[in-house]
Amino acid sequence: MTLATELEALAVDIAQEAGRLARVRRDAGVAIAATKSALADIVTEADREVEALIRARLAAERPGDGFLGEESGAERGASGITWVVDPIDGTVNYAYGIPHYAVSIAAVTGEPTPEQWEVQAGAVYAPVAGEMFRAARGEGAWLGEARLAVSAEVGPAGALLATGFGYDPATRPGDLELIAHVMPLVARDLRRSGSAALDHAYVAAGRLDGYFERGLAPWDLAAGSLLVTEAGGRYGRNQPDGSWRSPLIVAAGPALFDRLAEAAGLV
Ligand code: IPD
Ligand code: CA
Repeated sequence: MTLATELEALAVDIAQEAGRLARVRRDAGVAIAATKSALADIVTEADREVEALIRARLAAERPGDGFLGEESGAERGASGITWVVDPIDGTVNYAYGIPHYAVSIAAVTGEPTPEQWEVQAGAVYAPVAGEMFRAARGEGAWLGEARLAVSAEVGPAGALLATGFGYDPATRPGDLELIAHVMPLVARDLRRSGSAALDHAYVAAGRLDGYFERGLAPWDLAAGSLLVTEAGGRYGRNQPDGSWRSPLIVAAGPALFDRLAEAAGLV
């Protein structure tokens, strides 16, 4: 076992336990605990509890590692490895009872920011579908025993794409402008699934031809970006403008990437 596959196995194990807890809490009923950056940006008690479980298990099994989580913040480690965690990606789906949500856990080396880190391993687990997407650097991306591959070509009807929107209402006009620009060039149709982690995983699995979104946080994309590249896809991010959010990310197979990147304005 390499270090990356060891980290992957741990991510998978913890994501499974965390996903089980999220599902149990969802079945028992979910209440919104607080709003965060904007009124639409919500957190449930389950998000916090699931993150606490993940954090406690990582601290017990790899006490020297750092941590960066959506709900409980950052802590530096001594080992050079940081775990980047979204306990429930797709929180709004989760709160509304839509089963499309996932636990996302990644291990990165280097500074724990997307422009400086190297993702070593990641797991994205959708507990209701029972789907565990996983990757270790250099070892491919997998769904169960099936090796994942991005879509190899785009048919004449154009690409099936996904995107998402940030919670800040001020960013919405820009998001819509981007869609207006991309649609006629490359899109057969467009999905807005509500989980960035699963959008990445679906690109890796060839269920989507491509995905683009502005304003993602590090934990939305850490595990997913490795899934895409390990499945043979390409991943691009515009340089940050001083914010810790990514101004724009584009993920797609090699057959589509350049066209989508150009249409979306990736520089
Ligand atoms: C959100 C989801 C959504 C994306 C947003 C994210 P959360 O994460 O991934 O699909 O469009 O940008 O913030 O709040 O559900 O963890
Ligand atoms: Ca998220």
